[in-house]
Amino acid sequence: MSKILCGDAAETLKTLPQCSVNMCVTSPPYYGLRDYGEQEQIGIEKTPDDYIARLVEVFDEVYRVTANDGTLWLNIGDCYAGSGKGPMTISQNGKNKDVFNLQNRIYEVPKKWSGIKPKDLIGIPWMIAFALRGRGWYLRSDIIWHKKNCLPESTKDRPTKCYEHIFLLSKSRQYYYDYKAIQEPIKEVSRERYKRGRSANSKYAGQQGITQVRENFLDFDQQYRRKRDVWEVSTNTYKMDEHFAMFPEKLIEPCILAGSRVGGIVLDPFFGSGTTGAVAKRLGRDFIGIDLNARYLEKAKERIEKVIPEKA
Ligand SMILES: C[S@@+](CC[C@H](N)C(=O)[O-])C[C@H]1O[C@@H](n2cnc3c(N)ncnc32)[C@H](O)[C@@H]1O
Repeated sequence: MSKILCGDAAETLKTLPQCSVNMCVTSPPYYGLRDYGEQEQIGIEKTPDDYIARLVEVFDEVYRVTANDGTLWLNIGDCYAGSGKGPMTISQNGKNKDVFNLQNRIYEVPKKWSGIKPKDLIGIPWMIAFALRGRGWYLRSDIIWHKKNCLPESTKDRPTKCYEHIFLLSKSRQYYYDYKAIQEPIKEVSRERYKRGRSANSKYAGQQGITQVRENFLDFDQQYRRKRDVWEVSTNTYKMDEHFAMFPEKLIEPCILAGSRVGGIVLDPFFGSGTTGAVAKRLGRDFIGIDLNARYLEKAKERIEKVIPEKA
């Protein structure tokens, strides 16, 4: 049975029984980017380490409630240490202070932290990935979400950022992963190339394992190849009322298809506008969604009610 729960992610997860969901797909609040208007919100901690510690608390609970053969698909982006212009800093002239000015409390966020200079890329995704690996999760894949329609940036001393990560983590060494559900059609030209293997003139010809290409090819369905780890998906060009950090449905569809069976339970502890619930329902899965913000959850409920499940 699907359900939506309002509250702090770590605390609310404690009310769920262990091993009670099949997978989790989620996108936590980014560090220092947005004010979600709630006292307990994650993302406004004084240091990146404090932020990571709070996320670890949540994902320890996710680990507990996930089935032993379950997976976590964690979407996260990086950010830069405060340069004095971004939302990570309290500006002197009163601008940009919203994020840290919560219920009349100004958060004293330092402009730099030990070992991180202003302008440095913080490396948040890898900080959390390594932290979770250290807590028992198997770090299995770093999927790159390439945003074809990313926003232009004004910075003139580095390339424009156009990707985020989706880390695939598993609770055990062996886990449920339906590669067939997300395999990709292979191009005719590649099919022919794989079939041929390497030419006799190839510099690798005669080396050990050179016939492997052909043999492996015959092993799997010749119409498809395994899904790769760079996913090109456009960002949402719309926002649902006030919620402007929704992930696209197309982005999480493969996660849910590969990570759960029809009838399985998909968890999202940062439910927001309910994208995970909408996709899970459409694909014939149940879901559990948690968020601090009751207004978002009201909207999410309305959104999900309109979803019609596709035939299994
Ligand atoms: C990046 S958004 C998630 C967006 C979601 N993936 C979607 O497609 O709509 C992060 C969400 O985390 C919620 N949030 C922030 N701190 C939280 C906490 N401590 N516990 C639960 N939810 C929290 C925010 O209210 C926000 O909706």
